[in-house]
Amino acid sequence: MNIKTNRAIGVFDSGIGGLTVVRSLMEQLPFENIIYFGDTARVPYGIKSVETINRYAAQITEFLIKKDVKLLIVACNTMAAVAHQTIADLSDVPVLEVIDASARIAIKNTRTKSIGVIGTPATINSNAYARAIHLLDKKAKVFSQACPLFVPLVEEGWFDHPATKLIAQEYLKSVIAEQVDSLVLGCTHYPLLKPLLQDIMGKEVNLIDSAEAMAKTASDLINKQKIGNKKNSSPDYVFYVSDLPYRFQTIGERFLGRTLGRVELVSF
Ligand code: DGL
Repeated sequence: MNIKTNRAIGVFDSGIGGLTVVRSLMEQLPFENIIYFGDTARVPYGIKSVETINRYAAQITEFLIKKDVKLLIVACNTMAAVAHQTIADLSDVPVLEVIDASARIAIKNTRTKSIGVIGTPATINSNAYARAIHLLDKKAKVFSQACPLFVPLVEEGWFDHPATKLIAQEYLKSVIAEQVDSLVLGCTHYPLLKPLLQDIMGKEVNLIDSAEAMAKTASDLINKQKIGNKKNSSPDYVFYVSDLPYRFQTIGERFLGRTLGRVELVSF
């Protein structure tokens, strides 16, 4: 496939959380142009049905393909878990998604093969993480826990609030009891809770940040296929949202760790 290297990477998410993936991409691939779509009008996806998530994912894929991206990154764990096939079928460029990327890192790093996974209800109910991990190692044991309250708590900015700590202790009880040595943070929002989760899980447990894992996989693919942007000048970042661009801008800067550039409103 002939891919013009200055075409952007298309990153998409159900809302704002995918900016944790963009942040890692900006760090690991500093010259790549990025077009981001966050479905802020319809977030959260994690508590919606498989049919609805697939319908939304198809619309976003078509939107980004029209923007002539060279690679698609499904930053949203929920979409990756239940709509990966729909997205891949509609795309004529490579599609990378967070679940496979995180499963690889989990298997590479685990010593005891006892792995915890946390995510939205849709992600956990789909069993996609357990399947991806077992494809890499049949002997691995996977213990999953849905944490539906984490997304609103993170959007509220309550990263180390006592209420968040209490809820996290409750959610994590079962994975702690299984003595996992790794915990996959299987949702875009959870990297922001890392210090709190590390505290509850204990220092010896390895927290796997799906955003970092995703950026590493993207960087490997770009190098392997030699499709990295040849222009070493400052890249172009464009952010599209389906509602409330101003809220996206303010909260987004917390996720991104820097000021957000152009935010544009689109509707399907
Ligand atoms: N982006 C979603 C995920 O990673 C979290 C937010 C939502 O539920 O839409 O699973």
